[in-house]
Amino acid sequence: MRRQRLDQISWEDFQKLPLSKKGPYFLQSDGQPYHVLIAQQFDRASLDHLCHLATRIRRIAKSKQGMEFLAGLLPHKRAMLDFSQPSSRTFLSFYAACQILGLKVAEVRDPATSSEMKGESREDSVRTFSSYFDMIIMRTPLQGFAEKMAWLLSNTERPIPIINAGSGKDQHPTQALLDIYTLQRSFEKMNGIEGKTIVFVGDLARGRTVRSLSYLLTKYPNVTQYFVAPEKLQIQQDVLDQLDAAGVTYHVTQDFEAVLPVADAIYMTRIQDEWDEDGESQRVDISKYYFKAEHLAQIKFSTIIMHPLPRRQEIAAAVDHDPRAMYWRQMRNGMWVRSALIASIFDRHEEIDAYYQRYLK
Ligand code: CP
Repeated sequence: MRRQRLDQISWEDFQKLPLSKKGPYFLQSDGQPYHVLIAQQFDRASLDHLCHLATRIRRIAKSKQGMEFLAGLLPHKRAMLDFSQPSSRTFLSFYAACQILGLKVAEVRDPATSSEMKGESREDSVRTFSSYFDMIIMRTPLQGFAEKMAWLLSNTERPIPIINAGSGKDQHPTQALLDIYTLQRSFEKMNGIEGKTIVFVGDLARGRTVRSLSYLLTKYPNVTQYFVAPEKLQIQQDVLDQLDAAGVTYHVTQDFEAVLPVADAIYMTRIQDEWDEDGESQRVDISKYYFKAEHLAQIKFSTIIMHPLPRRQEIAAAVDHDPRAMYWRQMRNGMWVRSALIASIFDRHEEIDAYYQRYLK
């Protein structure tokens, strides 16, 4: 991908671009990410690079000397965590990633504590953060808002990177990156992600993690995707259009148990009822889509069970101790991938590689 500049395109023209054409606007001149906003900005080479870097950081972090090295990489940078929707994992793993790399962190988690309560716009609020910080990590219920702020800040005298930590119902790119890292690690000795069957289950209509991950999986040859959900919560047509365009094999079904034996990874999701307009989720019987302890006997020995979390009843707690339950490790992987992403944004990846070659190779 060749870099394009956000300060050389109008917001109106930028908005009209298809997702597939927006990626180059979020890159640095050396191809590393600058803004991280949509899954569509990642190609296979950048995914491989991030996974590789995440593994190196994870291994370096095992020793005190390694942790001291990592903490010395970005002590001169400050990050703002602007989370106007609830979060445990994304917030804390970004917070921990910043700490690992030495960045100083501040947060706004409740807009009621900011001057937005005095009538300041969200745009002015975010521009205010850019006066004091070197990066903004943003979770927002507003689809497209992180992109708008990236464009807006790129057209000020103080452009800084923006990372989308979950936006509306549409995108959660860094969750998809940690999911890819989890799949890659899990299938490391089984020829990687290529050729695997990935089964998405639950509220696929409103699950932003599924939307982002489904796209990233198109970067791996011969992956088959299944979408298992009640009709009202099925995957949206725009995701299927994307798979058609990429020539990906997929199946849309309501039959959870029939799919279990063919799955290499089962990606469970919860009902996203925070998006309900009139309690419509309450009228859908989702219990047929719960992964119960008895289902462990129906999946392969090598199948992994994933979940972006938080969960409700869709995975029984009795499944947690099975070695195929990958969701706790998946969650921790988020810290390593987010560390790799921040290190790449601030061009510290070569120093990490050099340290790794010198002390751990
Ligand atoms: N997976 C995920 O986004 O979790 P949080 O909402 O807890 O950040």
